[in-house]
Amino acid sequence: MVQILYCVSMTSDSSLPSNGRLGILMPGLGAVASTVIAGVMAARNGTVAPIGSISQMGRIQTDPGNLGSAKPLIKDFAPIAQLDDLVFGGWDPISANALEAAEVANVLTGPDLAAISAELEGVVAMDAVFDQKWVSRLEGVRVKDLPSKWDQALALMDDIERFRTEQECDRLVMVWCGSTEAYQEPSDVHMSLEAFEQGLKDNDDNIAPSQIYAYAALQSHVPYANGAPNLSVDVPAMIELANKLSVPICGKDFKTGQTLMKTLIAPGLKSRMLGLRGWYSTNILGNRDGQVLDAPENFKTKEASKLGVLGTIFEPENNPELYGNIDHVVRINYYPPRGDNKEGWDAIDIFGWLGYEMQIKVDFLCRDSILAAPLVLDLALFMDLAAQKGQSGIQDWLSFYFKAPQFRGDRVEHDLFVQERLLHDKLRELVAS
Ligand SMILES: NC(=O)c1ccc[n+]([C@@H]2O[C@H](COP(=O)([O-])OP(=O)(O)OC[C@H]3O[C@@H](n4cnc5c(N)ncnc54)[C@H](O)[C@@H]3O)[C@@H](O)[C@H]2O)c1
Repeated sequence: MVQILYCVSMTSDSSLPSNGRLGILMPGLGAVASTVIAGVMAARNGTVAPIGSISQMGRIQTDPGNLGSAKPLIKDFAPIAQLDDLVFGGWDPISANALEAAEVANVLTGPDLAAISAELEGVVAMDAVFDQKWVSRLEGVRVKDLPSKWDQALALMDDIERFRTEQECDRLVMVWCGSTEAYQEPSDVHMSLEAFEQGLKDNDDNIAPSQIYAYAALQSHVPYANGAPNLSVDVPAMIELANKLSVPICGKDFKTGQTLMKTLIAPGLKSRMLGLRGWYSTNILGNRDGQVLDAPENFKTKEASKLGVLGTIFEPENNPELYGNIDHVVRINYYPPRGDNKEGWDAIDIFGWLGYEMQIKVDFLCRDSILAAPLVLDLALFMDLAAQKGQSGIQDWLSFYFKAPQFRGDRVEHDLFVQERLLHDKLRELVAS
């Protein structure tokens, strides 16, 4: 673990932190969830910096029109919950608790884990709503045995309320950190709240477990963020419920390794009007996520999410001679020796002045969960802030965190720098409100 002296600056008078305990509920106590919990526990003592977390380490210009204006830390500018006030919970069909999940994931080294093992063990997984039909590579053992999806939703709502009471939480948020479910298109049952509730009672085959968690969260007035690429809150029924009950939602699919690189490099190429002929991306990944994605129906969900980004950044309709003929290919290969340490290669074929061709090669030896963990923390804190400020429905200002952002209106934004501006603009607006 990198030890860095973490300086805590003064909180400004205008925006005191939110008081009270915030519960972060995660369906899926796997590599990402256990790494988030471990990182927050380690950061609480103030000697390890929460690196990669915008909410904790990022700064914001108080007046975007004046580069000389103050630039406080976001956590001192916006009234977000403090790390000391966070409490964690979750569900999993395999992991018994966050310690077991962390040991299986093998993201953290032995000494780092030993220092917080008792706290991690205390985060005990609740029995999951799980159906192997949606994640064929996993065998669930800690699963709710109930006759209908309606009963499963009610049982999740009971879990949520029990957690709220037992952990003395003032507020809750839910972030889906579960496996990527098999690919599906929205169907009739997803088109309205009424149809969805009837589908829960009829055990409709098209309702996936993540959608039952999302329904339970929203009915419990708990904001819901989806970290995986599968359909979850991005269907009309859930958007209707979120708007009806004034609960924030967002998703989907954490923007971490290769797609993060893609949305960093692509805006740069476009700003210099360099042409793009093709972008070939391939990964090797050996963790449980990689094992799940090895099933073609689950990979298809991830592929759809990863392929979306280039079109909106390059806007081929504006410069067809530069971006009108792009071959974009994405592959993920399950390769157990690498565990959570994913390697992502990009071969980028570009062209410049007089049409001469050039190539860029990227080899990102990353750590999947180390990149994803701070995103979960930020999303939980910002979704909680949104809820406290009366925001409801889709929070597209959080598209900064997602590969396939849920958005209002007719345009999705993938450019990381534009997304960052939207995030800062909204934070200033919420603080002023
Ligand atoms: N790590 C990253 O960089 C990254 C980036 C983008 C998206 N994601 C997504 O985040 C999710 C979590 O990733 P991970 O690396 O922690 O995977 P993981 O396999 O380590 O953990 C997922 C956990 O979800 C559990 N699970 C499956 N179905 C469930 C259900 N119905 N209810 C409750 N739990 C369930 C599994 O048992 C597993 O323990 C995956 O969907 C992944 O695709 C991760």
